[in-house]
Amino acid sequence: MKTKVCIIGGGPSGLMLAQLLHLKGIDNVLLEKHSRAYVLSRIRAGVLEHGFAELMREAQCGERMDREGEIHHGVYISDGGQMHRMDLHEHSGGSSVIVYGQTELTKDLYDARDRMKGVVIHDADDVHPHDLSTAAPYVTYRIGDEVMRVDCEYVIGADGFHGVSRKSIPKNVLREYEKVYPFGWLGVLSRTKPVSPELIYARHDRGFALCSLRSQVLSRYYIQVPLSDNPEDWSDDAFWAELKRRLPAEVAEKLITGPSIEKSIAPLRSFVAEPMRWGNLFLAGDAAHIVPPTGARGLNSAASDIYYLYHALLDHYERGDDSGLDNYSTKALARIWKAQRFSWWMTTLLHTFPDAPEYDHKLQRTEMAYLFSSDAAQRSFAENYVGLPF
Ligand code: FAD
Ligand code: PHB
Repeated sequence: MKTKVCIIGGGPSGLMLAQLLHLKGIDNVLLEKHSRAYVLSRIRAGVLEHGFAELMREAQCGERMDREGEIHHGVYISDGGQMHRMDLHEHSGGSSVIVYGQTELTKDLYDARDRMKGVVIHDADDVHPHDLSTAAPYVTYRIGDEVMRVDCEYVIGADGFHGVSRKSIPKNVLREYEKVYPFGWLGVLSRTKPVSPELIYARHDRGFALCSLRSQVLSRYYIQVPLSDNPEDWSDDAFWAELKRRLPAEVAEKLITGPSIEKSIAPLRSFVAEPMRWGNLFLAGDAAHIVPPTGARGLNSAASDIYYLYHALLDHYERGDDSGLDNYSTKALARIWKAQRFSWWMTTLLHTFPDAPEYDHKLQRTEMAYLFSSDAAQRSFAENYVGLPF
């Protein structure tokens, strides 16, 4: 098979780029390791920034998101018993975020690929990029016993943190920066009315908790747990009891509980790989960087990569201008590091760190008091939470 752009990974990053390029007549093939059902069974992000939503619309996939997604103008932060509302709209000069599940937007992207008869190959085993430093790279993959080959001009590595693309960059070129946190998030999805119409990020001495939602009948809750815990260790009753302990009393009283539909633990990690381009391979999304979910930046960081790559490839194919491709890594990383900073800051502010000295607790409380009392701090929070400009 021959194409212009071969995209590895059928998560939101890969699908979005495939769709945008196809709409501009740029031929591409997408290879995904898993089945569509498997990709759609993963419960992940829930909060989208304005820039991501705009890209969904540009990809002609925004209709259901605009109909069913909820626009949120604020979030709450609680410290022990105290709740403070962060007015995102007021403090960001009129911006907001959209609550719309990653599962739903991935489904919308797959539906759009179907409508356009885009080439999406599922269950592709042993995907391997080759000759990436030449003008004629290619990607091989296996379906059953048959090994197939895609010849292309560019390879996009959008295959997530555990993918094969980043590993194709020689070790003497690739630099990796990583911070692993000593805890994870236990998440529960339940078909219950959310306890609050807006998200609540809760700091508590017993550990962090988050009240989020997918709709007014579908709730998503998280609690900080030790990395040694397994989801099976937590009965639904134990989860609800622990969540209630970490929320302000007036919120805990209102919490409607029910059976969990999904329960999983996500470890918290910060990670950046540099550079994001090597030869004719371009990394995008979680393949190049990971944030702890605290600031809801992961998918939103992938969006800026896709925006830069899409425009760089358009400039190349429509005008013969390669400056976007040449500057991609530098430009993308500048925004990525700002999202890293915000996610690290929010994680440090809100979590309980085992064995942290009393000095750190004092600083955490001081940071919180400053955030609750300073207009400037709230502006900075809002500017980052709704997403810095692309
Ligand atoms: P992925 O979604 O990981 O997709 C990569 C795809 O590549 C996968 O489908 C995988 O199967 C495929 N693949 C892997 N290896 C190969 C291979 N060798 N060959 C072919 N295909 C391969 N972000 C936010 O912005 N807001 C939030 O509110 C938020 N909440 C989150 C909550 C949780 C609990 C978690 C875990 C994450 C959250 N995120 C959030 C982060 C967000 O989900 C990710 O940043 C996002 O999924 C990245 O998309 P991606 O397409 O780059 O990578
Ligand atoms: C979610 O709804 O899954 C979610 C929301 C906000 C976050 C992280 C996850 O910061």
